[in-house]
Amino acid sequence: MTSSIFSSAYRWTAVFLLLTGLSCLFSPAVMVKHENFKRCDQAGFCKRNRQYADDAAAASNSWSAPYSLDPSSINFKDGQLSGTVLKTLKEGEEKVKLPLTVTFLESGVARVTLDEEKRQMGNIVLRGESKARKERYNEAGKWALVGGLEVSTGAALSEKAEQGYMKVFYGEGGKHEAVIQYQPFGIEFKRDGETHIKFNERGLLNVEHWRQKIEKLVEGKKEGEEEKKEEEKREEEPEGEDESTWWDESFGGNTDTKPRGPEAIALDISFPGYEHVFGIPEHATRLSLKSTRGGEGCYNEPYRLYNADVFEYELDSPMTLYGSIPFMQAHRKGSTVGIFWLNGAETWIDVIKTKHTANPLSMGVKGHTDTQTHWISESGLLDVFVFLGPNPQDLARQYGELTGYTAMPQSFAIAYHQCRWNYVTDDDVKDVDRRFDKFNIPYDVIWLDIEYTHEKKYFTWDPLTFANPIKMQKQLDKRERKLVAIIDPHIKNTDNYPVIDEMKKKGLAVKNKDGNDYEGWCWPGSSMWIDCFNPAAMSWWKGLFKYDSFKGTAPNTFIWNDMNEPSVFNGPETTMPKDNLHHDNWEHRDVHNINGMTFHNATYQALIERKKGENRRPFVLTRSFYSGSQRSTAMWTGDNLAEWSHLEASIPMVLNQGISGFPFAGADVGGFFGNPSKELLTRWYQAGIYYPFFRGHAHIDTRRREPYVPGSPYTEIITKALRLRYSLLPAWYTAFHEAHTTGAPIVRPNFYVHPDDELGFAVDDQLYIGSTGLLAKPVTKEGADSVSIYIADDQPYYDYFDYTIYQGAGHHTIAAPLEKIPLLMQGGHIIPRRDRPRRSSGLMIYDPFTLVVVLNKDGSAEGSIYLDDGETFDYQMNAYIHRRFFFDGQRQIMTSTNLNKGRITVKLESYLKAMEKVRVEKIIIVGVPKEWKHKHEVMVAQEGAKESKRRRKAPIEFVEGTGKSANWAVVRDPKISISKGWKIDFATKDEDDHHGHAH
Ligand SMILES: *[C@@H]1O[C@H](CO)[C@@H](O)[C@H](O)[C@H]1NC(C)=O
Repeated sequence: MTSSIFSSAYRWTAVFLLLTGLSCLFSPAVMVKHENFKRCDQAGFCKRNRQYADDAAAASNSWSAPYSLDPSSINFKDGQLSGTVLKTLKEGEEKVKLPLTVTFLESGVARVTLDEEKRQMGNIVLRGESKARKERYNEAGKWALVGGLEVSTGAALSEKAEQGYMKVFYGEGGKHEAVIQYQPFGIEFKRDGETHIKFNERGLLNVEHWRQKIEKLVEGKKEGEEEKKEEEKREEEPEGEDESTWWDESFGGNTDTKPRGPEAIALDISFPGYEHVFGIPEHATRLSLKSTRGGEGCYNEPYRLYNADVFEYELDSPMTLYGSIPFMQAHRKGSTVGIFWLNGAETWIDVIKTKHTANPLSMGVKGHTDTQTHWISESGLLDVFVFLGPNPQDLARQYGELTGYTAMPQSFAIAYHQCRWNYVTDDDVKDVDRRFDKFNIPYDVIWLDIEYTHEKKYFTWDPLTFANPIKMQKQLDKRERKLVAIIDPHIKNTDNYPVIDEMKKKGLAVKNKDGNDYEGWCWPGSSMWIDCFNPAAMSWWKGLFKYDSFKGTAPNTFIWNDMNEPSVFNGPETTMPKDNLHHDNWEHRDVHNINGMTFHNATYQALIERKKGENRRPFVLTRSFYSGSQRSTAMWTGDNLAEWSHLEASIPMVLNQGISGFPFAGADVGGFFGNPSKELLTRWYQAGIYYPFFRGHAHIDTRRREPYVPGSPYTEIITKALRLRYSLLPAWYTAFHEAHTTGAPIVRPNFYVHPDDELGFAVDDQLYIGSTGLLAKPVTKEGADSVSIYIADDQPYYDYFDYTIYQGAGHHTIAAPLEKIPLLMQGGHIIPRRDRPRRSSGLMIYDPFTLVVVLNKDGSAEGSIYLDDGETFDYQMNAYIHRRFFFDGQRQIMTSTNLNKGRITVKLESYLKAMEKVRVEKIIIVGVPKEWKHKHEVMVAQEGAKESKRRRKAPIEFVEGTGKSANWAVVRDPKISISKGWKIDFATKDEDDHHGHAH
């Protein structure tokens, strides 16, 4: 759905034009309104810190960073170092005390926190009548972190007495080392003796300490003159600090009162020897982040993290978008390291890459690139986690331990979602539902945007257009389909609406700087915003979703949280004023980027508690997010455009979400604004089947574009793509389970799968699905009839459909006419599928499986499947099937073994009972040698079978390839169960040679 004052203004114009009988001038000539969003030089703290960096660079060797660690203050105890960093001001002024803690965690991660003593003690004076808290915001961890904080017992100080620095050894086997330098203060993080991350290498550490405002009013001066005087003064003292935005700051007609004055924190963090940095979503940019300090092919602005409703966003840009994850990783051959900047305030990040060419005179000195970054946040603590890898999987796991792994979704949630702004009546919904069936197109979920409500009052239905929502949902439920309805955080400020009355009465709304309920403008007109930082607001919110409270909802209703940046049409940068107050009087400034997460989390909790004993996993989609959002929601990339470039941009954006710990991600299929051509729509579906979150969506001004709309051959081609997604749902679900338990991305970029393949580090236009070895290269160019796919290793890769072989590291061309989806299978994997076409995923739960065994160079393959009821939390009581499949090329034996090592519970027993009859109906083996021509049967043995049935024969059929395509074989109906241990012997020997038992 869209947002922002422009689109609403546009809509009103459209309505007006319609009313006055003029034709509607839809102009898709769209451009982000740059003037609505700040550049770095329009955000005082960013400008000051960038200037600081420039000054440091200009001074070069004579730059002396004014921060030092007082050696006499240092205390090291139980894995934690504490001390005081002193900031030197002008000659004769007292130094500013900044309490430092460096915590060494059991996981091998280090955490560095810097506070400011004066603010910490509340020893400051707020200006004006402000009721804001005096401390630096210290609760970001409360919302973002859920674990991984056990302090290392093994961390130890170096025994050698050092001059000017100290060393701490930590991490597994003491392989990690933090070298803490006193003057200037800085830290080097080493692994195996080599430096990977440096703090304050360039001396850009900066903590804007509290100071009293000195009123410069000269007596008897009139206002205008005063201004002039100030300017003159500045000119007189060019070396003085730029105070112009210390005490208040205006942008777009809004003034931020800044009762605490300047309070930014900044630090430079270097990654020596690293050319690639990834992460810090959300930006519409490439996976490998570009430099931001100008120059050819670089950006001029830092990457910005300030959750915002950016209307018609621009591609290839460091501009902020809807969500923030301040987690960055640096990657090079043999090493991945990273940092997590735990701060909820507006943040800017400069990235600078410096190339060092090989020295031709000194042999052996190789060329390399260093990446330096500069992190600048407006307020809060300086709180940074340091990850030393050494590989991408370690980072995924450790970051996940801290912020949580992605929630295990219901199985419908990873199937196809059909949305538009808006399905206009309950009959419309039912009609769309019927048409999907008529055209035999699978889908699982239909969505309602804001128009279903009665006058934009959430928790109500428009009585004219949605007179009978329950009946509508009953029709959906017949095919196990679901409904998702939108609920936003702005509550209409109107009469006769109990929700706003209660929210006001209980004092649960976000307050303005004066402590009164903040009122702003959004979809409903005048609105107020629930403050989910307040535990009382969270509990109240939960009550609103009970079935007898939100009448018209049913157990198959789920929720979409939009506009939770929050979007405020008449606010600064389309959001809330920074001096607004949240629970406990924290300023909005401090918590802005976390705000959206507290809201969607409250919705998630509400769905859990809709009805006592219901035991269902919620589904919530969010637009705004922060580190930790993955624990309760899926995200989408917001209001994109129906243009090829947006289709292309969606792939790196979704990949970036994956490596940043929030993998349940997707982009609006078809593009939100504008009307896609039939070709674009078709290609977008063929790409969308690879988004972990897969939803078609469209703006209210666009034409209908459900898959059955474009007609032949497009509808058939889109249907084929949808069926491919559906048949691979077992593989997707297994990938989600892996993400849920290890933090691994669901779709993976090349560098994650092949961390040593330097040529592939920046590849971001193709993806691997989980651990399946499926490698997809979506077509994102108009008129393309082939794609070039990059292969990183020397395994054979097989075309998914016709088993054409592609082998050899490098680029390969794959024909890709419109009906063709470029998808390869890497040798060495076993892929689970369900091949029977159904109308929804819910109708597939007892369908049999096909296993595709894709042999590697050595003739072996392995894979896994994870299955549970797809709906409840019973999997937490071990009610799941998790099996490993292995094809042993040497012995020509395939086995299924149990990976569910949990206790046998009642829930597990009943789940296994329910799944007892679910078979593997087909095993396809791709890449078999010619000699398999002579095989006609295989021997099958399954655990638990009666003795007489323990060993059986099953037929195998060989199909010879063409040379370009591989030989393959198929075993039909081997009569084995998906939940049991079994063994299939493919060796063509006398059956008596074998007496093996299946595990
Ligand atoms: C999510 O909700 C739970 C339960 O109300 C609460 O304990 C937790 O702090 C919330 N987390 C976030 C990020 O809002």
